[in-house]
Amino acid sequence: MSAREYKSKDIAVYFEPRLCIHSGNCIKGLRQVFDRNKKPWIQPDNADADSIANVVEKCPTGALHYKHLDGSSAETADDEISITVVSGGPFYVRGKIELKNEKGEVIRKDTRLALCRCGQSGNMPFCDGSHAKIDFE
Ligand code: SF4
Ligand code: FES
Repeated sequence: MSAREYKSKDIAVYFEPRLCIHSGNCIKGLRQVFDRNKKPWIQPDNADADSIANVVEKCPTGALHYKHLDGSSAETADDEISITVVSGGPFYVRGKIELKNEKGEVIRKDTRLALCRCGQSGNMPFCDGSHAKIDFE
């Protein structure tokens, strides 16, 4: 994982740009922390760690993750695997995910992923937002 790290004294937030499809959940959830008009765009000092963790877990693609720096709790996967079909968009997958290639090799372990359904992603098998450019239905 080639993630960028953003830290306060209580929490580290990790961001993987190649998985972000600009759903905006993070910005809508906690604008004082996630703001594309600021540098750095993630500022964990501006909210408490639990609120940040709560919003990070709503990132549907796994582009955001976190670690509490006091070791108190870490993100846990949903008990059940769920797959949500997004109208005109990807599959959102949640749970304890092991994504494998055709050889059976695990290519990613995660708790949240967005998988391409339109065939146009430049970052297969992950959605990269290209569905929005092709009127995918
Ligand atoms: S919630 Fe995740 S996918 Fe959506 S904009 Fe934020 S980082 Fe990107
Ligand atoms: S579904 Fe998003 S790029 Fe294909």
